[in-house]
Amino acid sequence: MLPDVPDFDIYAIDHLPENLIVADQRLIITWDDGKISHYPFVWLREYSPDAGTFNDITREQNIAVTDLPDELNISSTEIGADGSVIVNWQPENLDSRYHPGWLRAHCPSNPKPNFELPKRTPWTATRTATSQAFPPTFSGALINTDKEFSEWLGALHSSGVAVITDLPIAPEALEKVVDRIGPIRTSNFGRIFDVELKAETNSNAYTSQPLRAHTDLATREYQPGLQFFFCMENSVSGGETILTDGLAVAEKIRTDHPDEYAFLTEQPIPFVNTDRDSEYRYEVPILETDHHGDITTVRFTYWLRAPMTGDLATLDSLYSALRLFHHYADHEDYQLRFPLKPGDLIGVDNRRVLHGRTGFSPDVGHRWLRGCYMEREELESRLRVLDRQRRFRSA
Ligand SMILES: [Fe+2]
Repeated sequence: MLPDVPDFDIYAIDHLPENLIVADQRLIITWDDGKISHYPFVWLREYSPDAGTFNDITREQNIAVTDLPDELNISSTEIGADGSVIVNWQPENLDSRYHPGWLRAHCPSNPKPNFELPKRTPWTATRTATSQAFPPTFSGALINTDKEFSEWLGALHSSGVAVITDLPIAPEALEKVVDRIGPIRTSNFGRIFDVELKAETNSNAYTSQPLRAHTDLATREYQPGLQFFFCMENSVSGGETILTDGLAVAEKIRTDHPDEYAFLTEQPIPFVNTDRDSEYRYEVPILETDHHGDITTVRFTYWLRAPMTGDLATLDSLYSALRLFHHYADHEDYQLRFPLKPGDLIGVDNRRVLHGRTGFSPDVGHRWLRGCYMEREELESRLRVLDRQRRFRSA
C-alpha cells in the first residue's frame, strides 16, 4: 500500500523515481522523465508521514522544526516496488516512506499545487458587449450538479460576478445555495439582510435613492470578500442593478494616471460607519496590493468615508483621486446595468466588483433582495475541494 500523505488530497503517479543520491544535505531524485528534484534534509524530514511526525487523522503535523535533530543525516535510501521513496534518518534511526506522487507535486523547484484557481480577468462594459452572456449566467435547474456549481464558482472567481437564474422564489433559497460554499459572515446588519424600503433605516441601501457603484463595509479591517443577493421581488420602476469591475478601473488608473494611482494605493483613507449602538472605523488606502503589485482589494463605500484630516495638499489629492475613480466606476464604458428578476441570485466579489442600483419610486411596486456576506477564501476552498473530489472520482 502506498504511504500516507500529509493532507487530504489525491496524487497521481505520473512519474516514478529512478535514482536516489544523498549529497550536500539533500536527497536528489532523478525521475523517469529526466527531471531532477532536490529535497533539503530538514524539508524532507519535516514532512515524514510517520505517526510521530504527523497525525494521520487530522493530517496535520505533530512537530515543530525545533523538535528535529540539529544534525540530520540519511544513512540509506531505497525505491519501493510501488515507487515509494524510503529513507533512514539518523540519529533518530527513523524509516520514512514517501508517496512518489506527493514528492513530485511538491518538488521545491516546481511547487505548483494540484489545482490553480481560475485567473482573475478584468472586464469592462465595452469589452463584454460582444460576449454571449455577461455576467456569466447559470441555470437554477442545473446548479445542484457539482459540475455546474463548480463552473458558477469558477466564473465568480474569474470575473468577480456570476448569476444563477430561475431559482425557487422562497426566503430560504439564498442560504440553500450559499451554504454549499461555506459559512456566511454575519455583521451588524445580521446574518441575512433584507434590502428593501425600511423606515428609520440605518443604511442608504434600505432607501429608494440611487446608489453609485460601491463596495460594502469599507469600514471593516477585513472587508467581506463576497456578497450574494437573491431577488425575491422587483416590481418597481427603476432599481436596476449596477456593476463595475473595480479591478479594471484600478488598472486603467494605474496605466493612465500614475499620480492618482500612487495616492490611491499609498494614502490611508479613514472610513466610519456609525449606528445607534455601533461605531466601526478603519483607515487604509482605497486600493490594496500584494507583494507582486497586483490589486487585491478595492475599498469604495463612498458614503462611509470619514472627514479626513491632514495637510491641504493631501486633501486636494484625495478629491482629485476620488473624482477620477468615480469617473470610471460610473462611466457607461465600464458599467453594466440590468434588472434582477425574482429567482435570480447574483454573487459578487465585494473586494473587487463594485455594485449599486438606479433609484426607484417608493410608491409603486416592491423591491426586495435578500443578501449575505462571505469571505473570499470560502469560495477558493470550495473550488479546491470540488476539484479534489472530481479527481478522486476519476482516479
Ligand atoms: Fe451595497
